[in-house]
Amino acid sequence: MDRLTEAEPLDQALYRHVIGHFMSGVAVITTRDGGVDHGMTASAVSSLSLDPPMLLICAHTKAPTHTAVHRSGAFAVNVLDEDQGHLAAQFAGPRADKFSGVACRRGVRDVPVLADALAALECEVIEDVVGGTHRVFLARVVGARAREGVPLAYFRGRFGRFELAQDITAYERLRELVVNRALPLDGALDVDDLARRLHTPPSAVYYAMTRLIGEGLVGRDPERGYVLVPLDARASDEAFDGRLAIELGVAAALPGRLDAAIVRRWREIARSAESYVEGGRIADVNGYLAAIEEFHEYLIGLAGNPTLTDIYRKLNTSGFMAAALRGRNAPGVHALADHYQIIDAFAAGDAAEVARLLTVHNAHTKQSQREGIHHAGGRL
Ligand SMILES: Cc1cc2nc3c(=O)[nH]c(=O)nc-3n(C[C@H](O)[C@H](O)[C@H](O)COP(=O)(O)O)c2cc1C
Repeated sequence: MDRLTEAEPLDQALYRHVIGHFMSGVAVITTRDGGVDHGMTASAVSSLSLDPPMLLICAHTKAPTHTAVHRSGAFAVNVLDEDQGHLAAQFAGPRADKFSGVACRRGVRDVPVLADALAALECEVIEDVVGGTHRVFLARVVGARAREGVPLAYFRGRFGRFELAQDITAYERLRELVVNRALPLDGALDVDDLARRLHTPPSAVYYAMTRLIGEGLVGRDPERGYVLVPLDARASDEAFDGRLAIELGVAAALPGRLDAAIVRRWREIARSAESYVEGGRIADVNGYLAAIEEFHEYLIGLAGNPTLTDIYRKLNTSGFMAAALRGRNAPGVHALADHYQIIDAFAAGDAAEVARLLTVHNAHTKQSQREGIHHAGGRL
């Protein structure tokens, strides 16, 4: 039975923990009372009605901003964007200089409205009701404006970034095109063209580009705009040496022999690469590379450390291999037999032999990569 259905007494800590799963945005509620500006960070904001346009906020009855709203009868809801976490902190504590350094304009009844907020709604209180420690203000929205941007998210007591599912999909698909070198190496990457090709809005392509720049796969040229970062032998060697360093670390940290079920599964993965090979040549490059990647990911996964697996993925070894194999007709397989020897050494718990085999395998892979890069004229 999970905690949702358990019949345990509902104490404050449990309630706070469970309600914290409801993700919200973050706003600063501002008002002006007796010639003084007040503001407080609030997540208890909800739309109430469209006709008439109304919203509600909940404020602690002991908070000075609550009292100021109660007296002035007007407030603004300033929705924060993902880079305005500092404003959320600034307005969350009782301090006198909350508005210092914050640009404001004046709204309904002289209420301060944060000039850089993602969205601002100016409101007049119609009704209020007390519930527990808080007062709910029901208010009519008399002015509203918003700009482009991503809201600051608040989830389980922490600030975060809200990601649109379409942005993540666009990133994954664009990354695949980039690592497989399915885009022009020397031309510019046109955002509108890519948006059409991926059936996604340009904003999602911009999001993907920003992430790919962070990964070093895409660069920004002052004249051409977004461009693929060329992959050369040195970059390829660095990626595979990085993988080796991780794998040696995993091997050194493992205690003794591997469990038989793990070895069995790992052998199946190693064998699956062979189904993409015919007569010593690779018949299906994508399938083959996916199987090779699974082999190495399984090895690294033995450490049970998701951060290591993440770092391995970022090295993009599979992208380097795809790029080196691209354009070669039915390339030959390399060092597939190494995989079985590595598994056997792991299974036997022979750390020295594992380290030796991993190092040899890395040398084989780098050699085969260099041949592919040479074949492509030195750059991928
Ligand atoms: C993310 C976040 C959300 C908050 N939401 C609310 C809220 O909805 N209502 C409330 O009364 N206080 C909320 N608070 C706490 C107030 O911001 C805090 O009590 C503040 O000191 C009130 O300002 P004042 O003391 O100037 O009135 C929140 C704080 C944070 C950090």
